[in-house]
Amino acid sequence: MKGRFPWWPEWQKKKSAYAHAEEKQVDPDRFNTICAGTGLPGIHQKSTFKFKDVADGATRFLGHSLSGEKPYARIYTRLGNPNTEYLEKVLFQLECDHIIDNALKADEAQPTIASLVFASGMAAISTIIMGFVQPGDCIIVGNVYGCTDSFMRYLQNRFGVKIVFVDATKVDDIARAIQENPNAVAVFVESPDNPTLQLCDLEAISALTTPEEIMLIVDNTFCSPYLQQPFRLGVDVVVHSLTKYVNGHSTSIAGAALGPFEFFSQYVFPVYKDFGPTPSPFDSWLNSLTIQEMGVRMKHQCETAQVLAEFLESHPKVKRVWYPGLKSHPHHQLAQRQMRNGGAVISFELKGGFDAGVSLMNFFARPDTPMELAVSLGSVISYIEHPASMTHAVVPEADRLQRGITDSLVRLSVGVEGFKTLSAALEKGLQLS
Ligand SMILES: Cc1ncc(COP(=O)(O)O)c(C=O)c1O
Repeated sequence: MKGRFPWWPEWQKKKSAYAHAEEKQVDPDRFNTICAGTGLPGIHQKSTFKFKDVADGATRFLGHSLSGEKPYARIYTRLGNPNTEYLEKVLFQLECDHIIDNALKADEAQPTIASLVFASGMAAISTIIMGFVQPGDCIIVGNVYGCTDSFMRYLQNRFGVKIVFVDATKVDDIARAIQENPNAVAVFVESPDNPTLQLCDLEAISALTTPEEIMLIVDNTFCSPYLQQPFRLGVDVVVHSLTKYVNGHSTSIAGAALGPFEFFSQYVFPVYKDFGPTPSPFDSWLNSLTIQEMGVRMKHQCETAQVLAEFLESHPKVKRVWYPGLKSHPHHQLAQRQMRNGGAVISFELKGGFDAGVSLMNFFARPDTPMELAVSLGSVISYIEHPASMTHAVVPEADRLQRGITDSLVRLSVGVEGFKTLSAALEKGLQLS
């Protein structure tokens, strides 16, 4: 909505000068180098920090950054902590390596993008939205994670925000929603979406939202910065559940958001300070540790997923496979443009219907199989789940079926066990289904 965001003109200047990139992916070696990092701090398990003197405390309360720390650093952990700050910097470099380079070359004094780490992915999503939304606004929302969906409905029911749900994989549907809703202030999408792994054309959506001054927010959880860096595609705000690939070991819940510096410092950070969606220092330290090998484990997971998807596609018990790395996927070409590869999540439909899905799930619930029957993703352990009875059970049946979430659809998050182990286990499970 034109004129709604005072920070937009400044962001637009920087976005067009520094954020767009012909090269859609950061170089893999550079990616691993940033992940590995140097100087991982020890654990600052502290709630408060000692000031040098009154002037030091007063300066920090004014939000001035001393010795390169972020504004409001070293006051109180709800506002920031050295462990969280370290992780924020790594994520900032992974998503914005090219922006940092461009801004430095242009001698830019102010940062272009801010990075904040949260106690969960949902804390990141809800805080970002609460940072700008007001009654009467409209948010256009694609196929999103269940809790994001219900948070949007909560805003609609309690705060008079209009939520327009669209199939964001169809650019024309977004164009129509923008045209019909002149009060649209944001478009919120996931790509690939969950669980059918369909992609949104982020560059095409950005071409619609940018001239209208509508913020394009992308939940990058399914990709992580390893597979997709949305600022290169014209996105304005990126959110993550770090619980998935960044943690990679299912040992903590955390989230992150990155976006225009002016927007974050004037709108998001005040809400962050007052809502308190802050992660614990230990969880930030843990994620700073696990992110070190994210590129290495994800490369292995994605390579396994590609061959496993091909194996499943030719299996007589499998009706259909949804995996962006397969030529049969409706958005395969877009995936090649937008993502580093097809990712490490595969969904597939069984010929035997609901009962076949249940029997495959129950096979993997056994302790002697190399997967867990669990709903998360992104871990070194493979997880298998049944969306119709688990993650998407709350979606009305008609909507569920229209989105391709049939009773026999199974979602598999590929871990690091390797193709031989996983294909042998799937073969056994499929024989029983
Ligand atoms: C795409 C997506 N976004 C956000 C979330 C929420 O993240 P968290 O569980 O860390 O709050 C999830 C959780 O599964 C997710 O899959």
